[in-house]
Amino acid sequence: MGMGCSVSAQLTVQDGKADCDNNQNEESPKRLTKPDPRCPLSERQIFALSKSWKGISRNMKDAGMLMFLRLFETNKELKKLFGDQFNKLDTASEMIESKTLENHAFMVMCTIDDAICNIDDIDYVLTQLASVGRFHTKIKSYDGRNFEKIEDPFLMAVKEVLGDRYSINIDLVYKKTIHFITETLSTSFDREAARIKAEALENDNINENDIDKDVDTVALIETSDSQIIDSNKANNIDDITTKIEDVA
Ligand code: HEM
Repeated sequence: MGMGCSVSAQLTVQDGKADCDNNQNEESPKRLTKPDPRCPLSERQIFALSKSWKGISRNMKDAGMLMFLRLFETNKELKKLFGDQFNKLDTASEMIESKTLENHAFMVMCTIDDAICNIDDIDYVLTQLASVGRFHTKIKSYDGRNFEKIEDPFLMAVKEVLGDRYSINIDLVYKKTIHFITETLSTSFDREAARIKAEALENDNINENDIDKDVDTVALIETSDSQIIDSNKANNIDDITTKIEDVA
């Protein structure tokens, strides 16, 4: 990874695969292999991104912090996810002192850095992002939609660092990239959350001896736990249904 993210291995950003500095040839975009169809960027856009990212990755520690301070300006309620102690902090200068926030801001930037540096290996990127997305299900009160809230603060930070070099083209590239990242994170978060709920439901059903085994399983979920239906997107309901059908 770029920007010395190897430090973060102990913070669970899995060992970065490739470094931005050695996996791309600066002179020749033609040397890049054809992008995977799951990749949101064209070959040219990948090239532009990797070149541009080199220019900003050195400043990304501060940019990461700035990004979160901005996030909290407009989404105060998210502060509580970092604990009671952090939630009590009011001003930006107090928050800047927080090690918890500093570590997280750095981990976020490392995850983004790793994804950008390896965007030509989409299998690797999807695997890494999925594990980060799933991890957030362990955070009490975390909602999968929180991921997309960092898109604008991220773009603002990038724009600030790039200054004149922030062209209309590169704006589109960064928008697509960060959206792809947050979407992947929230999809894997949602899947994992649905899996956990289905598992809990499964255990409940096993423990209840008086359940009529012939009851239609879908109807069973709808009537026995309407909350699950309400709080999940359609694909999660499908996951739950499949899971329940497997068990039945
Ligand atoms: C692109 C978006 C994000 C990325 C890439 C990301 C990445 C990470 C990573 C790598 C970890 C550490 C995982 C581990 O220890 O195994 C983590 C933990 C955490 N994340 Fe995120 N995160 C993102 C967004 C958010 C947002 C928006 C919030 C809340 C506002 C949040 C709250 C947390 C919290 C509370 C932890 C636990 C921190 C700790 O234990 O110190 N994350 N995140």
